[in-house]
Amino acid sequence: MSRPPVVARTFPALRRALAELRRRDASVALVPTMGALHDGHLSLVRLAKRRADKVVVSVFVNPTQFAPHEDFGSYPRTFKTDAAKLAGESVDLIWNPDIKAMYPDGFASKILTEGPALAGLEDRFRPHFFGGVATVVGKLFNQCRPDVAIFGSKDFQQLRVVTRMAADLDMGVKVIGAPTVRERDGLAMSSRNVYLSAEERAVAPTLYRALKEVAKRIKAGKSIESSLAAGAELIAEAGFVLDYLEARHADTLAPIKSIKNGPIRLLVAAKLGKTRLIDNIAV
Ligand code: PAJ
Repeated sequence: MSRPPVVARTFPALRRALAELRRRDASVALVPTMGALHDGHLSLVRLAKRRADKVVVSVFVNPTQFAPHEDFGSYPRTFKTDAAKLAGESVDLIWNPDIKAMYPDGFASKILTEGPALAGLEDRFRPHFFGGVATVVGKLFNQCRPDVAIFGSKDFQQLRVVTRMAADLDMGVKVIGAPTVRERDGLAMSSRNVYLSAEERAVAPTLYRALKEVAKRIKAGKSIESSLAAGAELIAEAGFVLDYLEARHADTLAPIKSIKNGPIRLLVAAKLGKTRLIDNIAV
């Protein structure tokens, strides 16, 4: 059995723990999370272990990526079980700062991301979101100085934004994307799935089914437009309120009219009752 992870909550503790990890030139992977860990998060940790000698997982529910009407207050906080799960994965260090350490009084800076952050997907419905994500991820990179950082494809636009930011701002971190982990019925794992009632949980996999149906139609030669319309109908029939269902270029997230101009990524966001779910797949 390896030792349980060190838990750092202050900058001096983080610095000490990182210096210890970095001895003998060990490489370090960072997996940023907001906790409420599920197997999707743990798959990132496993990938991190294959890509670096030491693994740091940050657990921080970042207030700046939530709008006032969103779920910052009710977001699941399960640190004890999270720490136990990370110990089971032989993680070396958990970085769990408090809000005052991350955002001290007088905090007044923000990383402004453009390009994929303005693709008209999540940014259209959560205009505050990528400013908050980019700023906290930039801070986490500066604090931990990882060689690699692992992000899930589940949050596909976020993965593209962070990849772009790390390259554009010479952050010296290699951003690696990891595949989406799903429940047996296809629902993408998410910390927010706990919000779903039993009835909502039963229809939630329709989102993934609709994505697969759209992909099947496009691959069969149907137009992107008609394929998306069929997918949107399936989603609405299941009781979702659709935010968007779109086909985009997988690298740039630019709108795409034909499979010839691909690779295509299909991205969806929809509300089921009070819960907002997102998902995406390759065509
Ligand atoms: P969080 O939602 O906790 O997700 C942390 C990481 O886990 C993200 O990279 C996300 O894409 C990945 N992830 C979530 N569900 C997944 C699944 N089913 N399969 C694979 N990976 C999955 O994303 C955030 O936190 C925050 O925005 C953060 C980047 C930590 C900045 O605050």
